Amino acid sequence: MRTISDFNSGWRFVRADGAYAAPGVDTTSWEAVTLPHTWNREDGQMAVQYYRGKCWYRKTFPCPDLQPGQRAVLKFEAVEHIAEVFCNGQRLVAHEGGYAAFYADLTDALVPGENLVAVSADNDAPNVYPQNADFTFFGGIYRPVTLLVLEPVHFALDKAGSDGVFVTPGEGGGVRVDAFVTGGQVVCRLTDALGETLAEGTAAPDETGHAVLHLRIDTPHLWQGVKKPYLYTAELTLADGGKTQDRLAVRFGFRTFHVDVDRGFFLNGVSTPLRGVCRHQDRVGMGTAITEKEHAEDMALICEMGANTIRLAHYQHAQPFYDLCDETGMVVWAEIPFISQFIFTKEAHDNTVVQLTELIAQNYNHASICFWSVGNELSNGGESEPLWENVKELHELAKRLDPSRLTTIANSTAKPDSPLCHTTDVFCYNEYYGWYMGQAEDTGPWMDKMHAALPETPFGVSEYGAEAVMKWHSETPQKRDYTEEYQAIVHEVSMKAISERPYLWGTFLWNMFDFAAANRDEGGAQGFNNKGLVTNDRKTKKEAFYLYKAYLSADPFVHLCGRRFVNRDRAAIDVKVYSNQPAVTLSVNGGERRTLAGDKVFVFHDVPLRMGANTLVATSGPLMDVITLNRVAEPDESYILPQPKVVLNQDVVNWFANMVPKKTELEFPAGYLNVKMEIGQLLAIPEAAAAVKELIFQPLSLGAAAAGGGFSAEAVSNMKTVPLEVMYEFIKTKLPDTALLLLNERLNQIPLQ
Ligand code: GCU
Repeated sequence: MRTISDFNSGWRFVRADGAYAAPGVDTTSWEAVTLPHTWNREDGQMAVQYYRGKCWYRKTFPCPDLQPGQRAVLKFEAVEHIAEVFCNGQRLVAHEGGYAAFYADLTDALVPGENLVAVSADNDAPNVYPQNADFTFFGGIYRPVTLLVLEPVHFALDKAGSDGVFVTPGEGGGVRVDAFVTGGQVVCRLTDALGETLAEGTAAPDETGHAVLHLRIDTPHLWQGVKKPYLYTAELTLADGGKTQDRLAVRFGFRTFHVDVDRGFFLNGVSTPLRGVCRHQDRVGMGTAITEKEHAEDMALICEMGANTIRLAHYQHAQPFYDLCDETGMVVWAEIPFISQFIFTKEAHDNTVVQLTELIAQNYNHASICFWSVGNELSNGGESEPLWENVKELHELAKRLDPSRLTTIANSTAKPDSPLCHTTDVFCYNEYYGWYMGQAEDTGPWMDKMHAALPETPFGVSEYGAEAVMKWHSETPQKRDYTEEYQAIVHEVSMKAISERPYLWGTFLWNMFDFAAANRDEGGAQGFNNKGLVTNDRKTKKEAFYLYKAYLSADPFVHLCGRRFVNRDRAAIDVKVYSNQPAVTLSVNGGERRTLAGDKVFVFHDVPLRMGANTLVATSGPLMDVITLNRVAEPDESYILPQPKVVLNQDVVNWFANMVPKKTELEFPAGYLNVKMEIGQLLAIPEAAAAVKELIFQPLSLGAAAAGGGFSAEAVSNMKTVPLEVMYEFIKTKLPDTALLLLNERLNQIPLQ
């Protein structure tokens, strides 16, 4: 039988590259670490250039006591960006992708006595997504490692990092089990939540080691999302020579689902609007090297708020969290980090295929997952045929690997007629009215316009929201003031618009938690994106959390807003209460009680405050919430974000603005370079040549290759007397449609020599 042991202690780490793969390296100066570990747990959450590069881990361990034919294999749950694993100096495996599990078979490299495993991790590697995104790429072996000792006959470990077992529950209680093995006979028992055996079967593998079983459970309990997430277990044993050689248990759930373009998401035939959140995984002081405790804490908060769906952005999350989604009934949108900017290299293209294959293979059995997302905001860096081809290929790959689920995508700047809105089964948009553009009131009309523009494709909202930093407050909240009060208003308006539109199959607010984005320095909170409804340390639920609780949770509550906005300089104020009760009563300092009937948001106007402390009590039946406010003579300036950094009510500049042309037309300022110049002239000026290479030649290399020919970068660079603008007409279909505008804007900054 397989044994599984913890392999997380006793590692040495150095934040540097070097010849560290082989035995004989003195690591006394290295840091002693226990996995999971990231070297960015401090600098990854500050607005600095956090450390990105190749670093090394080493661990010595005694040779496992292996019987003939047994295998000793390490399972890495995730290593950020690229990993290489060496045993006693032998290179065993390289893994490209920072969020999926992979195996390293030590067996043939082991020696008697003490052994060494060395692992390099590189969070700056090119051609592996993500390369450009609004979150920190925490480097390291940031999820656990285990040592498996396997019998010669075991479940195969060569299926894209999965356990080699795939359970497909069908309608009417049928269950297909695909098991990949190295030999033996597969025995499968299906048990219910109480462990009772309901079905059993045996199958021999074919010559490729693939065994298939078809079993059935009569009138099974359905997995009904957060209402009743019933799970069964497929217990598989692998027998050979009359002995059990290996054993795996896989949980699964029976459910059917579909999306109607006008009526939204249906689970088991019941209309179930998916209303939920996006989640990032990092924690202050821990980075992404979190444990099951943190996963459980996150899920408890999401359940308390009452969400019924989670978009696990922007990458493959840890197994414990997908397990929690199965157990709590959350419908999951799973995704790969094919994000923001298309990389015109074959390696990057191939990496998207690997990452999606691993995401699906490693998470196929989770009842909670209903959607595989192939990309996020891929048009930010412009659209092109190679990009569209890549997305189409991923959609087809997902349908081939898993016909039982739907594909989706999160768009941003793509127009409705873009292939990015017509490739996947359903699609969504990330849209931030009230923050990056317009007002929150524009959200509803925008949704209707999008739905009307694409009447045949189910449409949802994969991101929306606004920033709120806990120390800023205002009686007159407005865009860009980074106050909790403004964030709550954006969500009030957005959620009301959402609640009136049943055609939205899913909506996922951005974000459940503040998260690390080292590229950011705004709102007075360096290194973070503050759009969370809960702070990154999970200690504080912002006001907007309770708005969603009022919409989504059946647990009775009342929540008085403003507890952190203590000092008020007005004689009378508006007091807001969120509640899922039909009426709320407010009293101040034990005085007059005022009752309001309402729906989720209750605003008591002109509530008088006396100088000094005021006790406000909100009640609804037995429910109560109390806060204390201080009336002061002067406004408390500590609540206001220093203005020089922020101009109120202006659109916030989007984080990817540098990737999007500022102009919609080519301009030709006198005395500066532009795209009307000859290619040879531009290439003779280093700064211009660099821009041409980055924006034209590099994309062209993949574009031409992917399209099976066309002008190569060399061919174009040899056309020295051709104006670049003219040449562009012959190559533009292989380039982002923003390339010429972006290049011209760069050239317009370079003075004519
Ligand atoms: C984008 C992107 C997120 C980002 C968010 C924001 O749409 O998908 O990764 O954090 O918007 O700007 O806050």
